[in-house]
Amino acid sequence: MARPPEADLPLFREKRVNDPEKALKLLRVEARSCTRCDLYKNATQTVFGEGPADASLMLIGEQPGDQEDLAGLPFVGPAGKVLDKALEAAGIERNEVYITNAVKHFKNEPRGKRRLHKKPDTSEIDACRWWLDNEIDFVQPAVAVALGATAARGLMRKPLSINANRGRLIALPGGVQGLITVHPSYLLRLHEARDKRREFELLVKDLRIANDAARRARR
Ligand code: URA
Repeated sequence: MARPPEADLPLFREKRVNDPEKALKLLRVEARSCTRCDLYKNATQTVFGEGPADASLMLIGEQPGDQEDLAGLPFVGPAGKVLDKALEAAGIERNEVYITNAVKHFKNEPRGKRRLHKKPDTSEIDACRWWLDNEIDFVQPAVAVALGATAARGLMRKPLSINANRGRLIALPGGVQGLITVHPSYLLRLHEARDKRREFELLVKDLRIANDAARRARR
């Protein structure tokens, strides 16, 4: 039976002030046994965020995919490769960014030997937001980037059109600025090389906007 999400962020508030890195480590350990929704039943492990506890830029994906589920790390599969290229083109060092997902377990449907990706539903995103909220609370990035609609829902707490909102800074509670862009896997689904190139450039542009704002905020 899944536990209902708690309303507030009690966990290590005091520790965050003193030691955000330790608080994040404790949070990661607690997340290993998460049963806030039923997705843990069908996944190998919780895939928690990774990166420096003092990162000024946070990237939020949808959920771990097959490879991430096995490795226990975010964005190490095909979408991660696209993300790596986009980060490099935007002049952003991946190891300086905190990278996480809106949903921490791989939602999938077994099909023969394969596990097919299934989109998380609203209740799963909302249940998992407890972890994301705590990650944001501890890391306190200047800018948090939502990669795709699921992350946008997790970050902004409401459904938002990517096309109508992408690439602009949106003030969020707690002094964090949010920015929405496409998910890297969107590029993998495009067939025309020209479309892929155009969308890649737009993704890089959005990441640059986020990174510039994060650097300005930390000066
Ligand atoms: N897609 C995501 O949204 N997150 C990952 O970690 C991998 C693929």
